[in-house]
Amino acid sequence: MASIEEETIAPSTEKKYDILEDLPGVGPATSQKLQEMGFHTIESLATATARELEPAGISQKKALDVIRLARGSITLSFVRADELVKQRENILRLTTGSKVLDDLIGGGMETQTITEFYGEYGSGKSQVCHQLAVNVQLPPEQGGLDGGALYIDTENTFHTERIVSMAKHLNLDPQLVARNIIVAEAFTSDHQIFLLENADLVIKENNIRLIIVDSLTGHFRSEYVGRETLAMRQQKLNKHMHKLIRLARAFNTIAVVTNQVMSKPDVFFGDAVHPIGGHVVAHTSHTRLYLRKSARGPVRIARLVSSPYLPDGEGIFKITQNGLEEVGEDEKKRK
Ligand code: GTP
Ligand code: MG
Repeated sequence: MASIEEETIAPSTEKKYDILEDLPGVGPATSQKLQEMGFHTIESLATATARELEPAGISQKKALDVIRLARGSITLSFVRADELVKQRENILRLTTGSKVLDDLIGGGMETQTITEFYGEYGSGKSQVCHQLAVNVQLPPEQGGLDGGALYIDTENTFHTERIVSMAKHLNLDPQLVARNIIVAEAFTSDHQIFLLENADLVIKENNIRLIIVDSLTGHFRSEYVGRETLAMRQQKLNKHMHKLIRLARAFNTIAVVTNQVMSKPDVFFGDAVHPIGGHVVAHTSHTRLYLRKSARGPVRIARLVSSPYLPDGEGIFKITQNGLEEVGEDEKKRK
């Protein structure tokens, strides 16, 4: 956690900087070290804490100076509510491809926040991620953000075939769409963390507007088994989620994570499942959606479980060859 002092570092208004080496006091050696630590861009330095920069061999004072200059170079604001209002004005929205789902979350997915989709095997989490990776490339008038997607695939379930059919359905050039999705396969939880820690330059250079981690918890769940590993797992997950929030804020991107569920054998009423990751994931995801299968084949039920400002609610959509689609009125009547 950053200290109060660090969170309130006033941005410098003197000058704008584009690359690390331009910052006064950051020579080639420090720049190299910072980059090795995952800070390749001014944006990532702007959201860093002084303590995080210390391993680069710089004093705390210098670290604070560097952060202040970086903050002054980009549109980022901290603490004051009037500035938060301004920051919210920059928020962009992306369509999920389903009007029902968009309405459920207040008009589409938001930049600068983390949206979590959780649900059982086959509930459609990865399909939603694929659809978002295509939709983000649409122009704003069609609900897109004219940007690319970064897809961190931890379970080897990213399929270009799905991207191709979804793109074709939207009359987009499948080859171009595939070009704008940067896929990074994560082999272990540490590798997953490493990929995100080093994602800033890729995000900046490829106009990434959507960062997906599918699945957030898969590796953690299989690697950290047993009570004694729980604290370590939660600590790492916490840091990972915070990195994601900071990237989403610094680059005004949407962040999406998927999460599996565990069954609760002791629950008799209500849902006998709950998402993995406990409080850490629950509290760092801003919007949580629970997906479940229905008795009617392709139809999925989405429940908004948690949102900063919207009431809980439910909606249905379906998954077809074309991607996410609306459930027709006649289909709704069919049992
Ligand atoms: P896990 O990652 O295993 O936890 O599941 P998930 O929630 O990510 O499920 P996923 O998004 O992979 O959903 C898989 C389901 O989507 C399949 O069982 C199908 O019902 C549906 N689906 C996937 N691809 C297609 C397709 O090309 N056509 C149709 N009609 N349905 C598809
Ligand atoms: Mg999946």
